[in-house]
Amino acid sequence: MMPPAGAGTIRCPRPRARETGEGIAIVVARSAAGQAISGMKLYDELAEWWPAFSDPEDYRREAAYLTRVLRKATSPPPCTVLELGSGGGNSALHLKSRFAMTLVDISPRMLKVSRKLNPECEHIRADIRTVRLGRTFDAVYVHDAICHMTTVADLRAVMQTAYEHCRPGGVALFIPDFVRETFVEGTDQGGGDSPGRKVRFLQWVFDPDPTDTTYHVDFAILLRDRNGNARVVHDRHVLGLFPRAQWRKLLREVGLRPEVVRDDEVRELFLGHRRQ
Ligand SMILES: C[S@@+](CC[C@H](N)C(=O)[O-])C[C@H]1O[C@@H](n2cnc3c(N)ncnc32)[C@H](O)[C@@H]1O
Repeated sequence: MMPPAGAGTIRCPRPRARETGEGIAIVVARSAAGQAISGMKLYDELAEWWPAFSDPEDYRREAAYLTRVLRKATSPPPCTVLELGSGGGNSALHLKSRFAMTLVDISPRMLKVSRKLNPECEHIRADIRTVRLGRTFDAVYVHDAICHMTTVADLRAVMQTAYEHCRPGGVALFIPDFVRETFVEGTDQGGGDSPGRKVRFLQWVFDPDPTDTTYHVDFAILLRDRNGNARVVHDRHVLGLFPRAQWRKLLREVGLRPEVVRDDEVRELFLGHRRQ
């Protein structure tokens, strides 16, 4: 049962709301920065359409579930949470009343969207494979951004980042859309309205090569501006797909004890516990 509103309100000091970037407060391997999102229009030229593309309100139920998972995962329950690949901040919108959130993303345009939605959160521009903030958190949270890791090396690198930022006894939570065993091809549609912008899209999930570690999502996106003008954009996302045994192995390799949790959408969530 969900605790009454306000029961889990955070008591720990919040990080200062600010935005830092590469070279200011963080260490980023420059050769890697940027490669993970190159070519994805949704996080770059279309970023300001994100709130219409993906309604922040749609994240409320999932965030309530994930809050329960996180609060059960450590003792005492986590207070400070680092989100890696926080995008437009839709998850953070609902998590920030329970946790002091620090948000990291590589896309300046997605960070701008998130800062507007979550002005009280700390925002940091960095590559989640290489960022080192020099401090630890009670929990590290990696939502769908983990799907952008398409090689074992990149997936392991994000797990290593999570380990480095997890306090002893803390936990890292990873939420891939699929593991190899649960993958299904298919189509879906979505979209919505935000002030001055309307978006409708079709997404087509398919795997052109079941023997490799990637699958594709092709988006056909229809954008209508405040003057009623419409245009269509195609955006392809190449995403990572790994067997659950690989997930467990990599978590163990970076020093996290793996635990698999299944949610009610048949996704497999990976908790990585850092020893005390
Ligand atoms: C689907 S969006 C995340 C949306 C987010 N769950 C929300 O609540 O709005 C994926 C994000 O991952 C980010 N991303 C992908 N690769 C990254 C990397 N190597 N380092 C940092 N961010 C990355 C993208 O910039 C994008 O904002």
